[in-house]
Amino acid sequence: MRLRIFFATLLSFALALSFTACEGDQGPIGPAGPTGETGPTGPAGETGEGVQNCKDCHSSNQLITAKLFQWENSVHATGGHYERNQASCAICHTSQGFIEVAGTGATSAGADVDNPLPQNCYTCHQIHSTYTDADWDLRVSDPVTFWVKGETADIGKGNLCINCHQARIPDPELPEPGVDGMATVTSSRYGPHHGSQGVLFTGSAAYEVPGDEPYTNSLHTSLIENACITCHMAPVAGGRDAGGHTFRVTSADGELNTNGCIQCHDDANALETLVEETQTEIADLLNQLGTRLFELGILRDNLESVNASSSAPLELTNVQLGALWNYQYVREDRSFGVHNAKYTRALLKNSLAALN
Ligand code: HEC
Ligand code: HEC
Ligand code: HEC
Ligand code: HEC
Ligand code: HEC
Ligand code: HEC
Repeated sequence: MRLRIFFATLLSFALALSFTACEGDQGPIGPAGPTGETGPTGPAGETGEGVQNCKDCHSSNQLITAKLFQWENSVHATGGHYERNQASCAICHTSQGFIEVAGTGATSAGADVDNPLPQNCYTCHQIHSTYTDADWDLRVSDPVTFWVKGETADIGKGNLCINCHQARIPDPELPEPGVDGMATVTSSRYGPHHGSQGVLFTGSAAYEVPGDEPYTNSLHTSLIENACITCHMAPVAGGRDAGGHTFRVTSADGELNTNGCIQCHDDANALETLVEETQTEIADLLNQLGTRLFELGILRDNLESVNASSSAPLELTNVQLGALWNYQYVREDRSFGVHNAKYTRALLKNSLAALN
């Protein structure tokens, strides 16, 4: 019995050996089998709420890209004066400075602004505050109390603009019209600074020298909803680089974007004539006043700088000081009457009469 088992084992060993000895190379791998059935759908994931909100703005509709494209062609983006980052300048000239003081009426930031940025999406909108669509809301839109003479203006969404496009506090301060006195000017840059549009548009912060011409505002002041926005952010004119977030009302080649005007001025040719006539008349009056101030030794011959410095101060009567202010106020506005023709005309005519 044991012997048989022994022989059987021996036999199978021998067979195994002989088979191994004559086995060939492994054959090639056969073709893949057919694809199996699709498995069952897994459970739904949780709603990514944050990401949904991001998509309100960051989506394929290119909304941000379109506004950026326009903004890149605005003087806010290209002007270069954001390097005026000292605390007292930064509140208008840098994005960070404005955000720090927006809506408080403060006339200076707490400190100089590092890494200054020009006015951008974050300046005017509340970008990335709640990370929802609500962040398009304007950073400020409350009525603005002007720094000079303290009048309050309410021009809707235009209130945003006139936080910065307003007169700065002059030294010496603007006297009260009708009050006699003398003042000493020690700076060649005496005046309201460069953004007098907000005060002129609303007929504020001027030296209303008494005269024959009454001080009334053009109907533009009260009639145009959201003021600045309607004209300067009108729908972009096709092929012309004005409107929308360029904040330009005329293109680089001087063509007027009338998209904001046509709701009231429906005849484009008549409007063009009206603008030309108004701007010619105001530019002429302005030049007369500038020339008179030069004759009196108050302005230099470029009709821009004041003939004064800390080493050569200028003694002026209150009326002369006021007329000088009015001149710079209208000159720096640069709309030549389009903003507020009636008020501008009265100011220039009465100032001229007072100096003569
Ligand atoms: C109200 C619209 C809005 C919402 C909502 C929004 N963003 Fe933005 N985001 C902007 C704008 C505008 C910019 C600036 C674009 C520029 O200057 O190029 C920006 C810029 C960015 C940038 C570029 C870096 C930076 O900070 O400037 C990133 C990253 C970004 N967003 C991520 C997000 C994420 C993530 C969410 C959601 C949690 C989100 N955003 C929600 C409007 C929005
Ligand atoms: C944070 C302050 C600030 C706000 C808000 C602001 N601006 Fe300006 N704006 C400036 C400054 C500063 C400049 C000059 C920029 C430069 O030269 O670097 C300027 C330039 C401009 C110019 C170009 C002037 C030129 O020299 O051709 C226009 C037009 C303008 N702003 C219109 C607007 C309108 C319209 C609004 C409101 C929608 C507005 N701005 C809001 C500060 C501001
Ligand atoms: C109340 C806001 C405000 C403050 C504060 C302010 N600026 Fe300006 N500044 C403006 C605006 C608005 C303009 C652009 C006006 C325009 O182009 O019509 C401007 C323009 C300028 C320009 C360009 C002038 C030109 O003719 O092109 C210079 C330079 C300048 N500012 C310097 C300063 C300095 C320096 C300070 C601080 C001492 C300062 N600004 C403070 C609002 C301000
Ligand atoms: C100087 C201020 C200013 C700057 C800078 C600015 N915006 Fe605006 N933006 C406005 C004002 C004012 C409006 C409202 C216009 C209107 O009502 O017609 C507006 C409207 C918008 C709207 C429409 C919002 C809505 O409620 O539907 C979008 C989108 C927008 N801006 C995106 C941007 C982006 C993106 C940037 C940066 C590239 C930017 N804005 C920079 C002032 C600004
Ligand atoms: C009735 C339409 C209208 C309104 C409202 C209006 N502007 Fe103007 N603005 C103009 C025109 C037109 C010019 C002159 C453009 C030219 O001759 O090149 C101008 C000129 C300017 C300039 C000088 C630089 C430039 O673009 O020529 C600035 C800055 C400015 N406006 C800002 C403002 C601000 C801020 C407000 C709101 C207080 C405002 N504007 C309201 C139409 C308007
Ligand atoms: C909401 C209506 C309205 C809009 C928008 C409007 N205007 Fe006017 N505009 C008027 C009225 C009304 C008058 C007459 C003003 C008066 O008699 O006080 C006027 C007068 C004028 C004058 C003559 C000067 C004056 O004030 O008397 C000019 C120039 C002018 N507009 C240009 C423009 C331009 C350019 C635009 C667009 C960029 C524009 N207007 C947008 C209603 C409007």
